[in-house]
Amino acid sequence: MLNIGVLVSGGGTNLQALIDAQNNGILKSGKIVTVVSNKEGVYALERAKNAGINTNVILKRECGSSEAFDVALRDYMQNKNVDIVVLAGFLAILGKQFIDAYRDRIVNIHPSLIPSFCGDGFYGLKVHQAALDYGVKVTGATVHLVNEITDGGKILMQKAVYINEDDTAETLQRRVMEEAEWKILPEAVEKLCSTLK
Ligand code: GAR
Repeated sequence: MLNIGVLVSGGGTNLQALIDAQNNGILKSGKIVTVVSNKEGVYALERAKNAGINTNVILKRECGSSEAFDVALRDYMQNKNVDIVVLAGFLAILGKQFIDAYRDRIVNIHPSLIPSFCGDGFYGLKVHQAALDYGVKVTGATVHLVNEITDGGKILMQKAVYINEDDTAETLQRRVMEEAEWKILPEAVEKLCSTLK
């Protein structure tokens, strides 16, 4: 059984999908041992506490620099004996120290079909607004490994979602979560854990 560390920044619905998958046996080759946020007071932390999972908040401004923040995150994960790291709505960029320590063991969920609508500046609702502005008729979600290129690591899983004519960024975000993200994130994490264990 691998130890999973989850990084969050917001509401934590993807974290909830992982917790639910752990409870219903879809996620069985790994166990969430800690949830770390780079923002205080986010609901993802409540979800973790409700599930009895250890939590921590690490703030970049308290670390003093991006490098120090990266090292603090890495050291915390290593102290918790984390084997694989899942970015579940984590909206900060990881640096070299962290990526080197967990090479090929960091998974991110992105709310579009990469290589569309991804890279620096594409996160959360902005991704869905960009898809609507472009006029694509199909979008979706991607689970991929994290490397030095933002949203540029190896793709592990994707799922497509049709765009409706009356969609707003908010309705589209919700549907992409329900139809794609909450399904493929737990599946991809289980697959990675079962390959690495
Ligand atoms: C999700 O839609 C996730 O795909 C996205 O942020 C949302 C977080 O929601 N991530 C990115 O945009 C990363 N570039 P959640 O906190 O409810 O899981």
